[in-house]
Amino acid sequence: MTHQIIYSSESATPMQMEDLEEILEHARRSNAQKGVTGALVYVDGVFLQILEGEAETVQSLMAAIGRDVRHETVTVLKQGEIPAPVFNDWKMAYVSATAEQVAQWVGLSGTTAVPDILDDLRSDPMKVTQVAESILSLLVPTSDRLPNSPA
Ligand SMILES: Cc1cc2nc3c(=O)[nH]c(=O)nc-3n(C[C@H](O)[C@H](O)[C@H](O)COP(=O)(O)O)c2cc1C
Repeated sequence: MTHQIIYSSESATPMQMEDLEEILEHARRSNAQKGVTGALVYVDGVFLQILEGEAETVQSLMAAIGRDVRHETVTVLKQGEIPAPVFNDWKMAYVSATAEQVAQWVGLSGTTAVPDILDDLRSDPMKVTQVAESILSLLVPTSDRLPNSPA
């Protein structure tokens, strides 16, 4: 079994591309050593991150991330066991999204403010799963997902 955690947080200061690159570079190197995979989304000052791996490893990483001063209001939206890692091709994929896109992932029309979207996610774990699936579908080329596609 694989432990999966999905959390949201707010960046302490607006992130520049180089700040994100620094986080991702460290995360990918460190996650490769720990057998952790996942994806990070940054949208309007808000992070959404999916972490997967061995339960103890992911939980202690989550604790370290929670202590990181680069972000605040770290809120676990969902965690639990899944049969196998879904983001296993990515040591930490990065997705830059707009609030409109994230609202679409959650099935909210007309709502584009990220804090409203987060309120919705906190109250509905099913929507959190939807978000993870939407992120994954952006990463996986469509042809790879077709059933019976030639190797
Ligand atoms: C938004 C965000 C996402 C992060 N994601 C990861 C991650 O996936 N893996 C990781 O090892 N560190 C990640 N970090 C860094 C950790 O918070 C922390 O700095 C790091 O685990 C400390 O590692 P060290 O003890 O090896 O210095 C992230 C930090 C932020 C702000």
